[in-house]
Amino acid sequence: MTEGQRATEKAAGRVASVMQESRVFPPPAEFSSRARIGSLEDYRRVYDEAARDPESFWHVRAQTLPWMKPYATVLDWQSPTAKWFVDGQTNASAACLDAHIAAGRGDKTAIVWIGEPTGERRTLTYRELLAEVCRCAAGLQKLGIKPGDVVSIYMPMTPELVIAMLACARIGAVHSVIFGGFSSEAIADRNEDAKAVAVITADGGWRRGTTLALKKNVDEALKKSPTVKHVVVLKRTGQPVDMVPGRDVWWHDLVAGMPADTPPVAMDSEAPLFILYTSGSTGKPKGIKHTTAGYLVWAKTTAEWVFDLRDDDLFWCTADCGWITGHSYVTYGPLAAGASVLIYEGAPNAPHEGRFWEIIEQEKPTIFYTAPTAIRSFMKWGMQHIEGRDLSSLRLLGTVGEGINPEAWMWFHEVIGGTRCPIVDTWWQTETGGIMMSPLPGCTPTKPGSCTLPLPGVCPEIVDAAGDPVDQGEGGWLVITKPWPGMLRGIWGDEERFRETYWSRVPGKYLAGDNARQDADGYYWIMGRIDDVLNVAGHRLSTIEIESALVSHPLVAEAAAVGRPHDVKGEAVAVFVTLKGGEPDDLAALKDTLRRHVRQQIGALAAPDDIHFSAMLPKTRSGKIMRRLLRDIAAGKETVGDTTTLEDYTVLAKLPGNDE
Ligand code: PRX
Repeated sequence: MTEGQRATEKAAGRVASVMQESRVFPPPAEFSSRARIGSLEDYRRVYDEAARDPESFWHVRAQTLPWMKPYATVLDWQSPTAKWFVDGQTNASAACLDAHIAAGRGDKTAIVWIGEPTGERRTLTYRELLAEVCRCAAGLQKLGIKPGDVVSIYMPMTPELVIAMLACARIGAVHSVIFGGFSSEAIADRNEDAKAVAVITADGGWRRGTTLALKKNVDEALKKSPTVKHVVVLKRTGQPVDMVPGRDVWWHDLVAGMPADTPPVAMDSEAPLFILYTSGSTGKPKGIKHTTAGYLVWAKTTAEWVFDLRDDDLFWCTADCGWITGHSYVTYGPLAAGASVLIYEGAPNAPHEGRFWEIIEQEKPTIFYTAPTAIRSFMKWGMQHIEGRDLSSLRLLGTVGEGINPEAWMWFHEVIGGTRCPIVDTWWQTETGGIMMSPLPGCTPTKPGSCTLPLPGVCPEIVDAAGDPVDQGEGGWLVITKPWPGMLRGIWGDEERFRETYWSRVPGKYLAGDNARQDADGYYWIMGRIDDVLNVAGHRLSTIEIESALVSHPLVAEAAAVGRPHDVKGEAVAVFVTLKGGEPDDLAALKDTLRRHVRQQIGALAAPDDIHFSAMLPKTRSGKIMRRLLRDIAAGKETVGDTTTLEDYTVLAKLPGNDE
């Protein structure tokens, strides 16, 4: 490589930072005095211990899992393949349930569940949850589901969703939870990629006062899912559904008369626990593979460190189990830690925009973990929904999913946290299995907008595109240089894509796909994605999936999707479309049609907010769509004149400075 090429390549990774934030909030003294890690000195000591001798460090933490066969080796690392707790055997449902009952905590509340329709509430103790999991597990075994089989779960946020996950874990089946907002096409793709043998679903689910037709979507998907032999259907809404004889069975019929003591199957540490599909910058969604023991140790340890979980806490993580946050911090992390978890089924604005505060007043959760996009909605909905509500049970707040803008951070701190609750801004990903960077509430001074410092065991670095560390304060690619127990073990069925996506651009290091910078105190500031992945309301969407969905419509010749800033969602989806024929009479109707089409192909969250029609898309001489220009147009930074007909953005591409 010449010096010139090398300089260009290095520059590709570097990003200018414009954000300045100087406020610092020390941890409250009361928090520090009780915390597991109570001072920055303590943090540095534990961090150094983990960095110096990771195997001894994680060996100590792994002792809390119920081992059915002890492991021989803590870590076998042949980059990029990590094996943790090699040759050991355990079971994730036993770690989350049986272990607590054996320790005399069977009567502790595991789940407090609030339905969306007002007045619906259920609680399950650890003992009751175990019994339900065992009945479901026995039912699945009766259907012939074996260790290693993949079971798709497409359900509303009911206790049965958590029960279904843990029941799969109990019998060694691999669950693949598909978010209830995804379309039948998305279910079919995931079933096919994972070769799922069964789907667990519900007749419907409540969302903002109406019902989602979950079973109907599954029926549609199964026309293209030949591997699926069984469908288990929870009766939730009571809406009419078609039951296919021999294939479909009601949940209540499946579990009736089943034993409440189904033994957990001993699973290898590295046996897959679940697959979770997430968007990448190219091609179809990737099935991120997580395995059993390392993931559990990571989810449990990080839940204890970051949320400072205590016996009397009620932990409310508002995520749906369709996302990684619902896996690690509704289900496996807090349950392995023996915490009480609050689950709310529905939307934050159903039946009114003060629903969350009403729930906090009634159920008195102590820890509240949510997404910046939700916080921005609360701010928009106004103080009238919050004033007069008693939120004094809260002692700790957390955010995840995207960077939090300092204004929203301050609002969360003052209005919801009453200035007394530390905020943990947690950076992590589907791939990392659990939190990687976050303040520890008893020791880390926080700065609004920064996820602060890495957790013990996490070794981040910020590099340029040649893999060299950038200077302090300079933006670059965030990589993780050492293996950690919760790391992904692969992309389901695609070893090559795994190596290519995460391990090839900076050889030997895990490429997170985010830009970041480090300030003078060593704090990390995440600066957004380096690839064509959008973050809409904290959810990852790839531009190429949206583009492929659009191009699959018969009228569309070519499409480009970009993100543009949005007050509440963080980013909104803007698409540029060129049509096959001439200009249709009714462009507004066509916009509706295309929105519906994307919704049907992927799901409501991918439906474009803005649709621009263009006679041509602006391209470089080598034929690459000029996304930077389209992003500027979408954000309103470039104007194309006041025409009502199809725009010609290629004109702008010819302006000086726009030749990417
Ligand atoms: O870009 C980062 C952003 O969300 C991405 C991961 O998305 P996903 O796998 O869907 O997992 C979301 C829940 C863990 C990251 O690559 N992200 C997540 N948390 C933060 C964040 N960006 C900034 N600050 C965060 N706290």
